Amino acid sequence: MVYITRRETFAAAHRLFKPGASDEENFRMFGKCSHPNWHGHNYTLEVVVAGEVNPETGFVLDVKELKNIIHKYVLEKVDHKNLNLDTDFLKGIIPTSENICIAIWNQLKDKIPSGKLYSVKLYETENNYFEYRGE
Ligand code: NI
Repeated sequence: MVYITRRETFAAAHRLFKPGASDEENFRMFGKCSHPNWHGHNYTLEVVVAGEVNPETGFVLDVKELKNIIHKYVLEKVDHKNLNLDTDFLKGIIPTSENICIAIWNQLKDKIPSGKLYSVKLYETENNYFEYRGE
């Protein structure tokens, strides 16, 4: 089994809040990420596909193809966007890194033409990353 990782970066705005809660309650729950007037992060996304090498091509999956899939189904919907307002696959979801990871997994899981999706990792800062493997 070979594991291929494609790394992408994107910039996006968000706000973490529970609808109906006051700004003070949201600040207690979500800290600075609850700022009412939005804020941004520079995210790094790593998508890992696992599979066996096709002896005819020498590839598990053409990395160019993986890049195009990630761009079409994820990056075009999140890069320079507001994750709360603009991103269809995050509608109704609090855009924490955990939830974004799961939502990106769900976006990609059926789109990988060979091998299969193994992990989605999202870095919100240099020091924190979140990983989902579909369980
Ligand atoms: Ni934030």
